[in-house]
Amino acid sequence: MTTITEVKPPTSGGGSKARASTRGERAVEPLIFEKSVPGQRAVDLPPLDVPQAELPDELLGAPVELPEVGQHDVMAHYTHLSNRNFSVDGNFYPLGSCTMKHNPRINEWAAALPGFASLHPLQDDTQIQGALRLLYEVRCFLEEISGLDEVSLQPAAGAHGEYTALKIIRAYFKDHGQPQRHLVLAPDNAHGTNPASCAMCGCDVVQVKTVHGHTDLDDLRRIINEHGADTVAAFMITNPNTAGLFDSKIAEAADIMHDAGAKLYLDGANMNAILGKTRPGDFGADIMHFNTHKTFSTPHGCGGPGAGPIAVRKELAPYLPIPQVIMADDGSFSLDRDRPKTIGKVRSFVGQFGVLVRCWAYISACGPEGLRNIAEKSVLSANYLAVRLRRVYEMPFFDPEHGRFCAHEFVTVPKRLLDKGVSLNDIAKRMIDYDIHPPTMHWPVHDCLMVEPTETESKRTLDRFVAVMLQIAQEIENDPALLAQAPTDAVISRADEVAAARNPQLVWDR
Ligand SMILES: Cc1ncc(COP(=O)(O)O)c(C=O)c1O
Repeated sequence: MTTITEVKPPTSGGGSKARASTRGERAVEPLIFEKSVPGQRAVDLPPLDVPQAELPDELLGAPVELPEVGQHDVMAHYTHLSNRNFSVDGNFYPLGSCTMKHNPRINEWAAALPGFASLHPLQDDTQIQGALRLLYEVRCFLEEISGLDEVSLQPAAGAHGEYTALKIIRAYFKDHGQPQRHLVLAPDNAHGTNPASCAMCGCDVVQVKTVHGHTDLDDLRRIINEHGADTVAAFMITNPNTAGLFDSKIAEAADIMHDAGAKLYLDGANMNAILGKTRPGDFGADIMHFNTHKTFSTPHGCGGPGAGPIAVRKELAPYLPIPQVIMADDGSFSLDRDRPKTIGKVRSFVGQFGVLVRCWAYISACGPEGLRNIAEKSVLSANYLAVRLRRVYEMPFFDPEHGRFCAHEFVTVPKRLLDKGVSLNDIAKRMIDYDIHPPTMHWPVHDCLMVEPTETESKRTLDRFVAVMLQIAQEIENDPALLAQAPTDAVISRADEVAAARNPQLVWDR
């Protein structure tokens, strides 16, 4: 236990003022157990106003050792811990493909309204008309945005949406006497969850080549011919893709798939770049998922509890999960469970209701013009950064002189800097010293950083990012050894990532 005599004087972190001001300078935060003082309490329970009853022995377990701490100490403890975090609320977080963006607080207010937050999932449909109406409206919003016929709100994350959609595609082909269609084609720059979802649905994945970041349609045709069109279930493509490019031949890819009797699956992770500009249904997608955290500013939840709604064309709709929220002719809402061909349930109850409330709030607040503005600003922000940095940070897929702009993110392979003896990790760790979260690394190509500024960052933040990246490049020129130590100005210095991953110490052991 820490006692007063053990308190050490503060040391200088030597840190940047910017960092100290946003994240605090506490090198070690004692465990809450170490702050425990017998007899302290964080809450005062109201006086007992019912007869006291003893709990039966069989309900009492062994006494639990809990910390005894006053309310302010609890508050201070967790505030100190939260100050040590990188977060979208406090830092620039340009994590390519992951779209870490600001979540407007009005969404949180809406989700916390007692009429939503206190609902019980087993309440009768007649008692929750407002909630069902909200779900139905989210359904309609997403149907309009996707250009597809019907949406299911059940999946709890993008990856879960992929899984659900592939289950639907398989059920469709089985129902149409073609169970042998088990191949899913995916570009070599596909997100890792794509092949993983395929494997979970019993599909085999065949990689399609990309050229300059775009899908090679000749390779797509070759694979279909080689394996036989009647073995192919779908082509799973992210567009705009993970190289930050919009595949403008997507309609041709859709035709190729439809000629083969297969489906076009759109990984809609990057919808923020095309919202209101084009619709997956219009460029040939048959089925897609949304990542509501990336497109509509809801919390992510690391694979759940988030939301990854899927949208499908009419012929796939009978296989959607149950229950489905529907509206009757008299304007009342209910949950439809009567879908004989459904793949069943993929999530408890209706899906992640609180996240869908946030999604509704965001789309309603933006309106059609606001959604279009998101697409424009996300693309403008990425291109602005790319143009300002490309002379120092090479960008293999970015060539505006020849009409090759990026969409919402760009990829840099900073070869000239790496040739000076620093590693990509050194550059990424140095960014932490400047209060910037390192971007996605080594994907979709080796030795790359994938930067996604998103539409919610100000020009001031973007300009600071450019200044930091140029400063880091200068540091590599002047003193590459400095980067090998980075981060030198963070709460935690460079961690042994392999040991942390292989031997995580997750339990407090006195
Ligand atoms: C292209 C792409 N597909 C799929 C996913 C998976 O989404 P989720 O993390 O919601 O499961 C992501 C996640 O960021 C992604 O970037």
